[in-house]
Amino acid sequence: MVDLRSRSALSRRLSIILGVLLVGTLVASAQQFDTGTIVGSAADLTGALIGNATITVTNIGTGIKKSLESNAAGDFTVIFPAAQEGEPWGSADEHPEKLRGDFVISGGEAISTMMQMDWTRCRFLPDARVRESVKTLGQLQEIFANEEARREMDPNTVVYSVQAWCPVPEGTEGGLFWGSTIVEPGQVESEYFMTHGHFHLKRDRTEYYGTIEGEGALILMDEDRNTRMEPMSAGTLHFIPPHTAHRVANVGKTPLRFVACWPSDAGYDYEYIRKFGFSACLMNTNRGAVLVRAEK
Ligand SMILES: [Fe+2]
Repeated sequence: MVDLRSRSALSRRLSIILGVLLVGTLVASAQQFDTGTIVGSAADLTGALIGNATITVTNIGTGIKKSLESNAAGDFTVIFPAAQEGEPWGSADEHPEKLRGDFVISGGEAISTMMQMDWTRCRFLPDARVRESVKTLGQLQEIFANEEARREMDPNTVVYSVQAWCPVPEGTEGGLFWGSTIVEPGQVESEYFMTHGHFHLKRDRTEYYGTIEGEGALILMDEDRNTRMEPMSAGTLHFIPPHTAHRVANVGKTPLRFVACWPSDAGYDYEYIRKFGFSACLMNTNRGAVLVRAEK
């Protein structure tokens, strides 16, 4: 049996750990602990139990880690041989396998590490973890050069749609997010349909774009407001450098499909683009797609 002193310590630590996990993607709740046995269940933030989730229990007193999977119903049991009466806090070197002091339960790394995409369509297969958003002309005020022309068009016209998979919480240092975007063909007067565009809030954060299908342009602007573009077509891969605003325009007649990968702590500064725009707009001219100096 674990003595009362250690039970108390275990209880305090457990409540702290659960508090931390509640903001994560997995809640590992220990319902009972006794003589080194930890019984719990893995659930997501909606309370739905998660089967086959990887759980790691670390005994702080000894540094010993035990990893296991929850069963199909989401339940898990971890057994540490308990320290015996008379040697509850004996040397960890002598009895490294025995439960001493506090423990921590962690999980979540394994539950969101796999997703299924239809690469030809640049869409995720239906999954509750995917966030979707659609941007219409009505939502893209003050983005195109000719605001009057935009207002005269059907505000329900879809300009682009984004699916995002965020396997770690927004702001997590060291994590990565994934996005799949489709920009529809079209123009506002002679300016191509395009995404809103943004700097990253953390200006030094970078990003990859990869084109699946269609013809487009990646428009890049540095902090001195120098704007340039890179052509996008099936197979092109683009590295967006630090301190660089980015947006994508569709210059073709079919949907432009591309994927993106960016750091989960990058953030998005849309406000700068709303206020100051890019220094050039991508226009359909008799010379093809040309960046034209913007007046904003
Ligand atoms: Fe970005």
